[in-house]
Amino acid sequence: MEKSEQERGGEEQGGENRMKLIDEVIKDENRIGIIGDGAEVTWAPVILIEGKEKNIGTEELVLINNLNGNKILAVCRRGYGRNPGLSKERYSPGRAYARVGELPSPSRESFDFDLSVIGEITGDGIRQNKLIIAPRSEVYMFKDKNPFELMNVDMQNEIGYYKDHKEWKVPALVEYIPYHIGVFCTTGWGKTSLVRHKIVPLLTKAGYSVLIFDWKGDDYVPYAKKEGYNVFEANKISEEISEILLKEVDKEEKYEILAEELLKEIRIASKGARVVDASKKAIKEALKKCLKDNKEKGKDLKECLADEASSLLQNYYPQPEKYKGILENSIKEVSEDFFDKFLKYTEGAKQEKDFIERIKEGKIGVVDLSGREKDEKLKIFLNIAKFLRYKMDVKKEEIGVALIIDEAPQYCPHKPEGLEKETTNIISDLCALGRSYKLPVVLISQGMSGEIGINAAVRRNINTWFIGKIHPLDREEAKKLLPHVDLDFLQSLDVGHFYFFGNMSPSPVPLLIRFEIDERSE
Ligand SMILES: Nc1ncnc2c1ncn2[C@@H]1O[C@H](COP(=O)(O)OP(=O)(O)OP(=O)(O)O)[C@@H](O)[C@H]1O
Ligand SMILES: [Mg+2]
Repeated sequence: MEKSEQERGGEEQGGENRMKLIDEVIKDENRIGIIGDGAEVTWAPVILIEGKEKNIGTEELVLINNLNGNKILAVCRRGYGRNPGLSKERYSPGRAYARVGELPSPSRESFDFDLSVIGEITGDGIRQNKLIIAPRSEVYMFKDKNPFELMNVDMQNEIGYYKDHKEWKVPALVEYIPYHIGVFCTTGWGKTSLVRHKIVPLLTKAGYSVLIFDWKGDDYVPYAKKEGYNVFEANKISEEISEILLKEVDKEEKYEILAEELLKEIRIASKGARVVDASKKAIKEALKKCLKDNKEKGKDLKECLADEASSLLQNYYPQPEKYKGILENSIKEVSEDFFDKFLKYTEGAKQEKDFIERIKEGKIGVVDLSGREKDEKLKIFLNIAKFLRYKMDVKKEEIGVALIIDEAPQYCPHKPEGLEKETTNIISDLCALGRSYKLPVVLISQGMSGEIGINAAVRRNINTWFIGKIHPLDREEAKKLLPHVDLDFLQSLDVGHFYFFGNMSPSPVPLLIRFEIDERSE
């Protein structure tokens, strides 16, 4: 699209401001060091000017005035102090002084940092650096100037501040929200807080409504009530959704869904896959027969189904004798209420306002899953997820609602069992469809991979990461995701500190961010 003159004027102004900011940083008082030997395109060592080692620490942002012709934004990673007089390789007078408890000479001492390059600074923002960084180039710190102002991204969409600089807001690229987000750190280190205080506000600001699944009911429900957001009673919403969904789908699919629902309730579900599949087909066929003559009571439907399904089993399973009785009896064991509900769904229930519309009206909705068994929680989640999948996959509707799945390993663990297999699959589906139909998923977990982590098929869908203090079992995964970050430093991060990287980050290298908790909302 052609840019208007006004827009072009605004951009030029922004570009000028950014170049002015660089001039304000490149001043003697901000100079901290000189690039040393062995500098590359993405990495360079800086030798600190005497005394500056006291002012600049790891993860600090710096500007390199590259003698090869460009200006580069970089971050201090690994730091090290040198004093050849104290080398452990050979005897020296310095070591002798140390041995007798005297202070050796500091004359040959130096301090270096490894700099990880964020990118080349241009009037249009930051772009990939392609020039070798020349040894002897000068390096400057930003002091009171916000380096993120150099990035030509909307500073309104902030996701916290940079390390110890409260005034340096870190912007996020909201166009990548539908590529999904992951938040990881050990227990009690601030995942839920980051989501509540930073990610949810960012999502709503970017125009998304938010649906949060609160597994225990104490992470989001109390605060949602205080803020006046919708809190959906899990059973009710799940039932309503079943109604809406069943009203919308065609007959064939309706029987399929009902058969699946019934299967979840009966004992046969724990038998082999072939039996389960055959039972499902038999139930589906039986439903068609039993629902033909407008039954009024759940009790009648139940008896009809138990009878028909068990005799239809032979059409789908070669030796049905063993399972016929189990199928018949286990259908009989299900409560009559369950079949009453079935009848209600098939009648086509009253016109309720679409659930998605209701979330959108309140902007933020929380599904309270507390006070029930795990399988029941998963069933409720599954029901809502199926509804969303149907909206995207079949109806091709744009959703505009972000899903927050806290305690993600409960829904999509490393090795899913039973119902978890279904929830894992459907989360993968939602992620795949969500990119096109605006349904971002935010997954929150203590662990990233392996036994403590989330399922690999789901994890592959995450494109923006927030990683705080990791669990020791996650060191390998962290090494892959954060190759230039010191793992010991990562394992000692304070509460509420996260490395932010991936496609929502304006920087190609991870940024260490923090956030404040707003006391009022606690
Ligand atoms: N940025 C922060 N500043 C100060 N305190 C924080 C910050 N972030 C989190 N906390 C505090 O740390 C505690 C744990 O936070 P939170 O519940 O968000 O952790 P979590 O990682 O979700 O834990 P869990 O694994 O148990 O779900 C809370 O008491 C919270 O107030
Ligand atoms: Mg939590």
